[in-house]
Amino acid sequence: MIIGIPKEIKNHEYRVGATPSMVRLLVEAGHQVLVQTHAGDKIGYTDAMFSATGAKIANSAEEIYRCEMIIKVKEPQESEFPLLREGQILFCYLHLAPDPEQTKQLLEKKVVAIAYETVSDSHGRLPLLVPMSEIAGRIAIQVGATSLQLNHGGRGVLLGGVPGVPPANVVVIGGGVVGTESARMAMGLGANVTILDRDLNRLRMLDSLFGPNLMTLYSSPLAIEESVAKADLVIGAVLIPGKKAPRLIKRDMIKNMAAGSVIVDVAIDQGGCTETSKPTTHADPTYVVDGVVHYCVTNMPGACARTSTQALTNATGDYALLIANKGWRKAMLDHVGLRHGLNVCYGQVTNESVAHDLGYTYVSAESLLS
Ligand SMILES: NC(=O)c1ccc[n+]([C@@H]2O[C@H](COP(=O)([O-])OP(=O)(O)OC[C@H]3O[C@@H](n4cnc5c(N)ncnc54)[C@H](O)[C@@H]3O)[C@@H](O)[C@H]2O)c1
Repeated sequence: MIIGIPKEIKNHEYRVGATPSMVRLLVEAGHQVLVQTHAGDKIGYTDAMFSATGAKIANSAEEIYRCEMIIKVKEPQESEFPLLREGQILFCYLHLAPDPEQTKQLLEKKVVAIAYETVSDSHGRLPLLVPMSEIAGRIAIQVGATSLQLNHGGRGVLLGGVPGVPPANVVVIGGGVVGTESARMAMGLGANVTILDRDLNRLRMLDSLFGPNLMTLYSSPLAIEESVAKADLVIGAVLIPGKKAPRLIKRDMIKNMAAGSVIVDVAIDQGGCTETSKPTTHADPTYVVDGVVHYCVTNMPGACARTSTQALTNATGDYALLIANKGWRKAMLDHVGLRHGLNVCYGQVTNESVAHDLGYTYVSAESLLS
């Protein structure tokens, strides 16, 4: 198969869809890989390093988008839509439920769009979302701590406090991968941490993992309202796979928070879990509503692009190889988890949540493949 790795063009996005080591695996399996020039420059992967592993270097995005399969990180941006071709395999994050325009474009272009974030494993986990969630969960506390500083518009609270002064209250909504990593980091810095989830088994697991230093709470509207009111820093980390994030934090709750407190809405890539959330970029990551600082960057792991690229490709490499070796149809038929990744295929929406949220008819991947 001929595989193209474009340079990412989203704001401050320096991750790349394949490392030299992943390219080598694909080339050794008999595939041809084209990498767009300077795709990995910012994170220390030069064109020479890609060439040394057998890739060809392409000078333009146009050349890359002639390939059969595109492996990238973020969803295609506006200028990339015209480059997509019928039947082309697009393997990357898509987050379609909150993005009707992108969905329309992918449908019109009749691509085979496989979303990293809905590929599942045999335990029902999301193996291609996990590494970025681990990173985003950790970054969330770093940016939350910085945003709490007065010079960043925050209320001037140090997350861990000091002897004689209490630490900050950190409230994490959603105790999955992002939430666990945020809680771990916040506790590591000495903050008072409360985590809310609707899944009691998840709360049991977190309780036995972290012990009494972590307060676990069953997530209900009242519990959220009371916790958010006392929080210096709120981390939004909920997910209902494929669906738009539920808007759990209402405008009234924001009004009840102390001026200068901070919300980091990690779930913003699925639309955000706060009524006041709107997507921001690394170039201008925060804004203030009712005195509360909002950080809503949709590609947080891009800030630590080298670590993120390595973690991402550790997870995506085997799937990319599977698709390239077998072709997308056979790979989907053989691997039920990969099939869950198929979101849009030849003009049909093949993910039920996306179809439901955006008002399209759902066509199952199984029926399409048969
Ligand atoms: N902004 C970014 O750059 C970035 C990066 C990585 C992940 N994310 C996003 O972060 C979000 C969380 O991802 P994850 O991997 O941790 O998901 P996950 O599935 O591991 O965890 C989500 C948790 O939310 C819980 N939940 C669902 N409804 C809830 C409710 N009403 N109240 C409380 N908890 C509820 C679930 O039970 C689950 O434990 C996703 O939207 C993901 O796409 C964003």
